[in-house]
Amino acid sequence: MKARTVLAGMLLALALPIAAQAQPANAQTPPAALPRFTPQDVERGRYLATAGDCAACHNAPQAEGKGDNNGSAETGEMAGGYPIVSPLGSIYSTNITPSRSHGIGAYSEAEFSRALREGVRRDGARLYPAMPYTSYSGLTDADVHALYAYFMSAVRPIDRAAPATSLPFPFNIRTSMRFWNALFLKGGPAQADPGHDAQWNRGRYLAETLGHCSTCHSPRGFLMEEKSSAAFSGGPLGAWYAPNITSDKVSGIGGWSKQEIAQYLQTGHVPGKAQAAGDMAEAVTHSFSRMTRSDVDAIAAYIAAVPAVHDAGDKQPAYSYGKPGTFEADIRGTQEAKGRQEGARLYSGLCAACHGRDGDGSPDGVIPSLYHNSTVGASRSNNLVAVILHGVDRTVGDQHVMMPGFGERSFVQPLTDHQIASLATFLRGAFGPGGDVTEKQVAVASAQSSLSMILLMARTGLVLAALVLIGIVGWRLRRPKRLPAGQHLS
Ligand code: HEC
Ligand code: HEC
Ligand code: HEC
Repeated sequence: MKARTVLAGMLLALALPIAAQAQPANAQTPPAALPRFTPQDVERGRYLATAGDCAACHNAPQAEGKGDNNGSAETGEMAGGYPIVSPLGSIYSTNITPSRSHGIGAYSEAEFSRALREGVRRDGARLYPAMPYTSYSGLTDADVHALYAYFMSAVRPIDRAAPATSLPFPFNIRTSMRFWNALFLKGGPAQADPGHDAQWNRGRYLAETLGHCSTCHSPRGFLMEEKSSAAFSGGPLGAWYAPNITSDKVSGIGGWSKQEIAQYLQTGHVPGKAQAAGDMAEAVTHSFSRMTRSDVDAIAAYIAAVPAVHDAGDKQPAYSYGKPGTFEADIRGTQEAKGRQEGARLYSGLCAACHGRDGDGSPDGVIPSLYHNSTVGASRSNNLVAVILHGVDRTVGDQHVMMPGFGERSFVQPLTDHQIASLATFLRGAFGPGGDVTEKQVAVASAQSSLSMILLMARTGLVLAALVLIGIVGWRLRRPKRLPAGQHLS
């Protein structure tokens, strides 16, 4: 029965889009003559493109086998070709330079707006949600106009095709995204909320559209949709975990000041609280650190007011664990400490040179203390394991913050899963909530090391598309009479 349903589903998945495609809609319109853009529009567009981090996906990977750049020295600003790896194959970002032959040079502003806010390409085909049009759907007309002005007049056209995306059937049927969109695409910018001031409203707009904080920080439901009832209460991200950033004083960041939230977004570093590594470091490097202080303050004001979501498993704030000078005492004597000796040895050998014998960090605070550090104190050990595996890599202005990783491909010293588990267990005992980190947890995290937020999004889209198709098929099969005449499921 199940197999038949799935088979029928596949057939219907094919039939429906064909029926939909038969409509003459979306015929390509000839490009309108380019309007003149004001320099203010162009500069504003450049800023918004940074806030939205278009380059994170639309720049080709540098000197990476997969990007298929033929070793070209050109990094391909906005020329696409970044592979968003999914279990079904790669989805490549496209060339969004104003090249007429290979980019979006022929897009009118209305067509550009549809691509950005509705996920529809110029030729009418649906984009995969690996392009975050569900977030961008909230952009205002004025901001879309500014982005258009920037892309059309300030981005250098590059006449180079990005590798084509070809996913296996039924995922190659882009029209299936219609169903996905019907469920999850909210239209239009959010209305200003008069119950809050202008700064909060600005913060909400930025956080929910270009900043897309919730893509990473909100948990997902059965259909991988963002759970709005528990918005910002945390979500897994490959080896990393985007923590609870609601206003809960214990589970979230209710104990941070707005000023500290803003500082974290602009620099990725708040002494005594947290540092940004992994995907957050990338977002800080390429996007948040380059936004204006007033915009970052607005995001902080909005985030600080997000309703609290409490997790009963959390006993005290992640950043509040540990205290100076207890380290040596902690590893001496007790029976429990015996088991931790391997971890302690690894710490002295590999970490103490930078983080200090007692985990105090460097006197100037550039290298953080490991107590009062949300990564070590978090009830979930994901980020502690991930940072040992991958290190930290973040650039803000001309300052490059770097900690080497100790995973498989470490240039310092590759550690085994067992060693990383001992080290993490030891650190959580000395400076955090305690509890064992198992070898298995480390193995799972290292296997996920190639996962990224983008992959998560690509997967989300594809898993959903499959579920939605099957769901619709199930619904149709229960109502066979409603099938349009001429469609056969045998
Ligand atoms: C998380 C990754 C990601 C980010 C961030 C992103 N894009 Fe995309 N974008 C994609 C992918 C992938 C595609 C191609 C999807 C497909 O083929 O279905 C795409 C397609 C597009 C297209 C359609 C072009 C065409 O004809 O194929 C436009 C226009 C576009 N993006 C503009 C933007 C702009 C402007 C921004 C920043 C505000 C942006 N994108 C940010 C991943 C991204
Ligand atoms: C690409 C995914 C991603 C996006 C987008 C993102 N974050 Fe994060 N964020 C993370 C991850 C992962 C961490 C954990 C980093 C670490 O521990 O090194 C994190 C950490 C944080 C922390 C520190 C919390 C703590 O207790 O240590 C704050 C605050 C934060 N993010 C706020 C934001 C805000 C506000 C936005 C939107 C403007 C945002 N993030 C967008 C992934 C993301
Ligand atoms: C070469 C110096 C160096 C060494 C060696 C080093 N670290 Fe770090 N560590 C850093 C720097 C620099 C940062 C990031 C500071 C920042 O983000 O502003 C950091 C950050 C961290 C963080 C916080 C990361 C986050 O996401 O919040 C942890 C936890 C950590 N290190 C643990 C370790 C452990 C465990 C070892 C040994 C296996 C180690 N470090 C070895 C320099 C080092």
